[in-house]
Amino acid sequence: MGKKVAIVTSNAAKGEEARRILERLGIEAEVVEMEKLEIQSESLEEIALRAARAAYEVLRRPLVVDDSGLFVEALNGFPGPYSSYVYKKIGVRGVLKLMEGVKDRRAYFKTALAYVSQGVERVHVGVVWGRIAEEARGSGGFGFDPIFIPEGHSRTFAEMEPWEKDALSHRARAYEAFAAELKWI
Ligand code: IMP
Repeated sequence: MGKKVAIVTSNAAKGEEARRILERLGIEAEVVEMEKLEIQSESLEEIALRAARAAYEVLRRPLVVDDSGLFVEALNGFPGPYSSYVYKKIGVRGVLKLMEGVKDRRAYFKTALAYVSQGVERVHVGVVWGRIAEEARGSGGFGFDPIFIPEGHSRTFAEMEPWEKDALSHRARAYEAFAAELKWI
């Protein structure tokens, strides 16, 4: 395809997951670890785009930044855009505590993926629905993976092989939409 894309992130596990997804889609990519600009916004799309623009100012090469969140229906979409902060402060156990006794366990992960290169800006989105598990299970993945069971499955993301998560994840869906467009931009 001829375009090498930098995956800009401060989270090595997330970067590696993104690199693996892009490789499967035939796009050469390299993870560039860098502190990402984190603006306050309710919109993952805006957070990702602003961070990608800021990274482009420094790196001046085609790059992507993705911003994701876990949106829990019974908590009115919390933690959503604040997922990273909530994960650091109360973690998986804290979210399970908030969900104690809650019957409606529906939730979704969403990724907004911003691509910036010279004169080009694009944002793609990927969503996967599922439910919050009753307890943390599994050791794979990262973040809230041990408590998220994707729709149609009984295992959490953390109990799946990496390729199984990649076949259904929010991140994979956003990267697939991006890869389909990259040929044309
Ligand atoms: P980020 O801003 O894209 O790094 O994501 C925010 C937070 O959401 C992370 O700190 C994770 O806790 C959580 N998160 C994002 N993507 C995933 C995922 O694929 N699995 C589990 N947790 C995730």
